Amino acid sequence: MKVIVSAGPTFEDIDPARFIGNRSSGKMGFAIAAEAARRGAEVLLVAGPVHLPTPEGVTRIDVRSAAHMHEAVTSALPASIYIGAAAVADFTPQTFSSTKLKKQTGSETLTLELVRTRDILADVAAHALRPRRVVGFAAETNDIEHYARGKLAAKRIDMICANRVGMAGSGFEADDNTLQVFWKDGDATLGPAPKADIAVLLLDLIDKELA
Ligand code: PMT
Repeated sequence: MKVIVSAGPTFEDIDPARFIGNRSSGKMGFAIAAEAARRGAEVLLVAGPVHLPTPEGVTRIDVRSAAHMHEAVTSALPASIYIGAAAVADFTPQTFSSTKLKKQTGSETLTLELVRTRDILADVAAHALRPRRVVGFAAETNDIEHYARGKLAAKRIDMICANRVGMAGSGFEADDNTLQVFWKDGDATLGPAPKADIAVLLLDLIDKELA
């Protein structure tokens, strides 16, 4: 069984000195990749810029931007399962400035033109080589079920794992997490627990509910 996992943030370069990023540490996705490998799967981990060691038995591809991650994930298909735990930028600068942007004298504001990135999860779910099980994550601050179920439907995926961000003890950077998991006919809450334990519970749930 081949499992592709994405993890970590993406960095969208503005100029040689600056980028747009986010607070993902990669811990959640790396824990899932480690657990899948422990269960004997062939695991490809597509990792954004993070400082974590590669889990044992896992093949890793390091990427930087959402476009790089899209290319690495889709060109690795076919697979049995895709789990998108990465915090992929929704927008990227329209143009990259090869020279460092300078402050304009007399101007107190700077406007950056951003364009939408391609949605990796939705594109994997619509791909001719679609994995049988496509699982996404949703980072939410409020109305968790409403937004998570919206993403489940809009991206045509099989399961979505919502976690609360913007508070200590879950989501970005934390060692622990709590997942509210939704699929067509059900839902479950996993945790609170260390991310390694959440990975065990999540892979058990995928096996049981998306058999
Ligand atoms: O890395 P950690 O510090 O351990 O933190 C874990 C986490 C909070 C990053 C992780 O648990 C998590 O929630 N990952 C998804 C974060 C996110 O980008 O959520 P979203 O609601 O914006 O995106 C929804 C889904 O679409 C995600 O599966 C995302 O990977 C995917 N997506 C988004 C945009 C895009 N262009 N392509 C995508 O595939």
